[in-house]
Amino acid sequence: MDKLRIHGNVPLNGEISISGAKNAALPILAATLLSPGTIHIRNIPHLQDISTMLSLLGQTGVKLTLDERGNVQADASAVVSWHAPYELVRTMRASILVLGPLLSRFGAADVSLPGGCAIGSRPVEQHLKGLQAMGAKIQVENGDIRARCRGRLRGASIAMEMVTVTGTENLMMAATLAEGQTILHNAAREPEIVDLANFLIAMGAKIHGAGSSTITIEGIKELAGCSHQIMPDRIETGTYLAAAAITRGRIRLNNTQPALLEAVLLKLSEAGASIETGSDWISLDMHGKRPQAVSLATAPYPAFPTDMQAQMMALNTIAEGTSTITETIFENRFMHVQELQRMGADITLKGSTALCKGVESLHGAPIMATDLRASASLVLAALAAVGETCIDRIYHIDRGYECIEEKLSQLGARIQRATM
Ligand code: EPU
Repeated sequence: MDKLRIHGNVPLNGEISISGAKNAALPILAATLLSPGTIHIRNIPHLQDISTMLSLLGQTGVKLTLDERGNVQADASAVVSWHAPYELVRTMRASILVLGPLLSRFGAADVSLPGGCAIGSRPVEQHLKGLQAMGAKIQVENGDIRARCRGRLRGASIAMEMVTVTGTENLMMAATLAEGQTILHNAAREPEIVDLANFLIAMGAKIHGAGSSTITIEGIKELAGCSHQIMPDRIETGTYLAAAAITRGRIRLNNTQPALLEAVLLKLSEAGASIETGSDWISLDMHGKRPQAVSLATAPYPAFPTDMQAQMMALNTIAEGTSTITETIFENRFMHVQELQRMGADITLKGSTALCKGVESLHGAPIMATDLRASASLVLAALAAVGETCIDRIYHIDRGYECIEEKLSQLGARIQRATM
């Protein structure tokens, strides 16, 4: 199993490019199932989760070609199976994203029910209720979701009971081929939903309001092929900014979208960073200073993203002052706390809030990654710590950060992957 060895206490300094967004690429790849036309997608990141989605699509019969530069061509004109098996779903919950497209185009989908994961129980009943409102017959038996509809799904007015990102995506995709109008109330507003909507619109879908909490979709009979470029990864961007801040460094990130990171940039400025932005770049400079502690609570977009919570916690461990971080999206997203404590962090958990007293410095230690963003926070802590940190179970980070050692090395970090 791969491990990362990091010699910390080196300020990051330099310039790198941001990759395509994992959480936009996954639903967009699933949406290729909606059309018999040829689809070209650019800027797909090279990540484990993307490989899993490509395997899943390949198994259904989608013909895929991909090149080293992240361009994928997909042709779903000869789909032979509408089954997402447990072996794939258990390694990636986002496999649920094929449910809406398969059911809507073929009238049938058998998708293994995703279980809980390291960060929470993560049920999917909103996806199922929405599809039922559109006329689907759904049975959950022996751990499988069996969804069927006679003819096309019917448009419906659906009020989701909570803000769910993949739930909104599944229903928006399903509605593109439904008969009549669908209105999604209380929709998630994440930028990745806008990217998916733009992709579907390029295929001919009629969608209004993506990016707001009410999305209206007029169903049509068939979608065509198209060409699309995946948006930059805002969480990768935020993670590298936090990495520069925790090491008192200076960084410039290219090929990104500053407007999508307002809540994160605000907190990093509060931590003492000087931030400049252009149309597609962000620079951050700590001027060699120790960060100030910042308190925050996670919430759906445009508020502070849960996917950046662990990284900000790492920053607070060595910041000047005391902070509180409240996680409101997932019930168990504090798995990094125990590992940070092994490195000398002073954090106390009270329910969904972490109280962190900043210490002068962390020290290297053997630690273990537990989920994707927790792993990112441990890498950040290790970059700032005095001495060597060895992070085990690093496969978690390969699910969401493209070429992380190469990018960090380019910024001057002393980081090595050890393959055991
Ligand atoms: N929820 C329900 N019922 C549902 C759907 C969601 O109770 O039917 C709850 C969840 O358990 C959670 C909350 O609603 O407490 C929000 O979950 P959401 O459905 O929005 O999460 P998701 O769609 O499964 C996506 C991202 C996550 C990101 C969350 C929140 C993808 C592929 N995944 O997950 O990304 O944390 O939205 O922004 O887009 C990551 O990249 O590390 C990651 C976990």
